[in-house]
Amino acid sequence: MLDINILSLIYLIASVTFIVGLKMLSHPASARKGNLVAAFGMGLAIVGTIFLYRDDEGNKLHNYAWIFGGLLVGGIIGTLSAKKIKMTAMPEMVSLFNGMGGACAALISMIEFQHFANHNYVEATIAQSYEAGAVVEEAVLSRGVPIETLLTIFAGLVIGTVSFAGSMIAWGKLNGKIKDFSFKGQHIVNLLLLTLTLALSAYLIVVVATAVDRPDPESDVQIVKELGSTPLLLFYATFGLALVYGIFFVMPIGGADMPVVISLLNSFTGVAAACGGFLYNNNVMLTGGILVGAAGTLLTILMCKAMNRSLKNVLIGSFGGGAKPGGGGSNKDQGTYKEVTLSDAAVLMSYANKVMIVPGYGLAVAQAQHACHELEKLLESKGVTVKYAIHPVAGRMPGHMNVLLAEADVSYDKLEEMEQANEEFPTTDVVLILGANDVVNPAAKTDPSSPIYGMPILDVELAKNVIVNKRSMKPGYAGIENDLFFQPKTSMLFGDAKKVLQDLIGEIKNL
Ligand code: TAP
Repeated sequence: MLDINILSLIYLIASVTFIVGLKMLSHPASARKGNLVAAFGMGLAIVGTIFLYRDDEGNKLHNYAWIFGGLLVGGIIGTLSAKKIKMTAMPEMVSLFNGMGGACAALISMIEFQHFANHNYVEATIAQSYEAGAVVEEAVLSRGVPIETLLTIFAGLVIGTVSFAGSMIAWGKLNGKIKDFSFKGQHIVNLLLLTLTLALSAYLIVVVATAVDRPDPESDVQIVKELGSTPLLLFYATFGLALVYGIFFVMPIGGADMPVVISLLNSFTGVAAACGGFLYNNNVMLTGGILVGAAGTLLTILMCKAMNRSLKNVLIGSFGGGAKPGGGGSNKDQGTYKEVTLSDAAVLMSYANKVMIVPGYGLAVAQAQHACHELEKLLESKGVTVKYAIHPVAGRMPGHMNVLLAEADVSYDKLEEMEQANEEFPTTDVVLILGANDVVNPAAKTDPSSPIYGMPILDVELAKNVIVNKRSMKPGYAGIENDLFFQPKTSMLFGDAKKVLQDLIGEIKNL
């Protein structure tokens, strides 16, 4: 009894650490600590469950060798892969881990359904051999599976499986092993698959629930006998359908839209885990699942808003009509652009009062964050004010630029969010764009036919001079031309971001 109370207290502490950790994640300065706080709470909840949990009959957990073996193997794999992973590959790592969460939730449902199903068959056999009304009635009804338990089992199975299958495809796509795949009418096939999965779940819930919830023991025995292994087979058929649906759901989505999908799948995993919490009456699992579900949903909405796209458009449409995300794009004649030499760029920046750096996906690809910080320090030593303008969807995942710059020890108070930065551009002498494209494309404000029309962007053209560093005139993720590059204030500085920054630092030092 005392143990159970201590366990409840541990669960409460763990739940609080999740909430505090999540709050701390909202600022780069406290994010690392927030992660550790929540991880500590999770560790506490796991250890507490292993040693203090008792079932209704007072039994402890057993199979310690399996439990600790699993913890050890999982812990080693997790630690090694987290240490090895590159910043640019972070979304695929998140996707893989999220998929594992979905798989766990689905496995819980499988085990519990099997457990309930077996229970009922056993009771039915006993009932038949007694052939006596009263005893049979009591035995069968007392073992009935409540409908809400079945609902939870199926919700966990379907949502967890979709999240697992979808996350694995997202992982494969992000690391280039799986290519986008779609066929005509795929959305209809997807809808059919989903309907079939839900219909089968509903049928099974009704059949199993009614099979054990009849007042007449004779017919109970009869129904369970007639059903035989059908419910179990249909249960696995539901699992199969959810698996195929998860694959088909993510297959056609463009590679660079994957962070939005991963965030959505993350919220699915949270809901599936919360189902496990309901099933086991486990408060910490419930809190954790709800927090993940809610956070994932909010993040998905925020990302869609920052791209000015609806979730439906992300899931079933591609960016723009013809242009595919991350791909070619049309090359309408935009006029000419001018280039700036390294030494001219060095002079312009060294004698400026204020320089704003706009980091984008290219900076992450080039791993130029350290060189960027070095340039910032050099310019500041010459009395130039240097700040960074961070667009909410610059890069390929939420907070991509913040994390990248934090890695290079750029001070947080130098990072300006979009609204703040837009107020500062009119008083900025030089904007240096490093591997960013869509997030500075004025077509988002001026061209209603543009696929990014309405997406809030950084108003860099309000500054006195704009220097754009990229490797070529190729478009960015949205696959569209950028008018900014052809404006009189803009000069192009071609080359790999890291190399260009290192050369620029050299030039400034020689001034
Ligand atoms: P993009 O529009 O993708 O542009 C990146 C640019 O970097 C490219 O034009 C590329 O031009 C250049 N580049 C690539 N490698 C480089 C290198 N080594 N050195 C220098 N430049 C390099 O990036 P963005 O402006 O950051 O915009 C992000 C886009 O991703 C938005 O459209 C956004 O909606 C989308 N998106 C973001 C998220 C999140 S949450 N961040 C999620 C989903 C989608 P070159 O090839 O000519 O070098």
